[in-house]
Amino acid sequence: MDSFLIEGGVPLRGDVIIGGSKNAVLPILAAALLTKDPCTIRRVPDLSDVRFMLEILKSLGAETRFEDGTVTIRAAKVKGFGDYELIRKMRGSICILGPLLARFGQARVSLPGGCVIGTRPIDLHLKGLAALKTKIKIENGYIDARVRRLTGSTVFLGGRAGPTVLGTANVMMAASLAKGITVIESAACEPEVSDLAQCLVSMGARIHGIGSPTLTITGVEELHGTDYEVIPDRIEACTFICAAAATRGDVIIHGSRPEHFAAVLDKLIEAGVRIERKAGTLRVTRPGRLKPTDITTMPYAGFPTDVQAQFMALISLAPGTSVITERIFESRFMHVAELMRMGADVAIEGPNAIVKGGRGLSAAPVMASDLRASAALVIGGLAARGKTQVHRIYHLDRGYERMEEKLRGLGARISRVAGE
Ligand code: EPU
Repeated sequence: MDSFLIEGGVPLRGDVIIGGSKNAVLPILAAALLTKDPCTIRRVPDLSDVRFMLEILKSLGAETRFEDGTVTIRAAKVKGFGDYELIRKMRGSICILGPLLARFGQARVSLPGGCVIGTRPIDLHLKGLAALKTKIKIENGYIDARVRRLTGSTVFLGGRAGPTVLGTANVMMAASLAKGITVIESAACEPEVSDLAQCLVSMGARIHGIGSPTLTITGVEELHGTDYEVIPDRIEACTFICAAAATRGDVIIHGSRPEHFAAVLDKLIEAGVRIERKAGTLRVTRPGRLKPTDITTMPYAGFPTDVQAQFMALISLAPGTSVITERIFESRFMHVAELMRMGADVAIEGPNAIVKGGRGLSAAPVMASDLRASAALVIGGLAARGKTQVHRIYHLDRGYERMEEKLRGLGARISRVAGE
């Protein structure tokens, strides 16, 4: 298992280009199953999660090609059952359920297990598909779904923690080929869901209310191929901004869509980070000391749970007390123990992490536990004096494209150490 070796304390300086969004591209790749025509998807980040999804599509019989950030998929001949082992390994693969049902009337997908950030239930996915007349059986760890004809209906997809991103994606994809009209109430409004909706529209789907909590989908007989460019990754952009601010650097972010992470920018400014917008770029500097700042994660357009860990690494450098409240996933504080190994002072009380900052971070060997926790440790390592080794960075490779190369381009002293 590879690790990163980071010699911290170097302010990041220079320019960085943001890649395509992981969480937008995964369901968009699955959407190619909805048509026999070839689909071309552009600005696709080269991530292990993307490679996994392409393997899953191949195992279902689709032809795929991935070259220079462009994927082509032709799902002319596809079977309803794929490689269960592959499907089991990647949680995002749940989003093949809707397309398979729409195209074949049946799907068998392994039930995703919990993961370190929480139990990750899928009851809302199943509720939505059942509302479209799908019969669902859970047996031996598999979801067995069958439907004679998907039929539109009205379904409320809000759960305990708010709307569901991939659940909305699944139901929207199924509904685009269903008979009649489907209304999804309390739909997720995340930009990644809107991006999928726009991609489906480019394939001939009829979807109204994109970006709002009420999506109205009028089913069509067939969808056609598309040539579609994925939105930039807002979480990658926020990660680089936190890293720039943590090292007191001067970094220009290119190719992002700041309107997609307004809540994060607002909190960064409150924390004393300077953000200058110029000609489609963001310049990130930090003129003075950081100020303590409280955040609460929420569904879009609130502060995203996927930036909570990175923000914690940053705010642990602010003298004073900050409270970070995690409202989306019940145990997304796995980075806390590792940040504490680097000298952070954090106490967890239920969904709150109380961060007493200002003592600075010091280098230490740390272990990544999930994707965003890993990003937080990298930020900590970049800000700490001395050599930090971040183990198990395969988590990072799932969701950040060439992270160490991009950081090296900003002057960071970071290298990948193979094996362990
Ligand atoms: N939930 C239910 N029932 C369901 C589905 C979800 O109760 O059927 C709950 C979850 O337990 C959670 C909340 O609803 O408390 C939100 O979960 P959601 O379904 O929105 O999460 P997801 O679609 O499985 C996507 C991203 C996550 C991101 C979340 C929230 C992908 C591949 N994953 O997951 O990304 O944290 O939305 O924004 O799109 C990451 O990139 O690091 C990551 C974990």
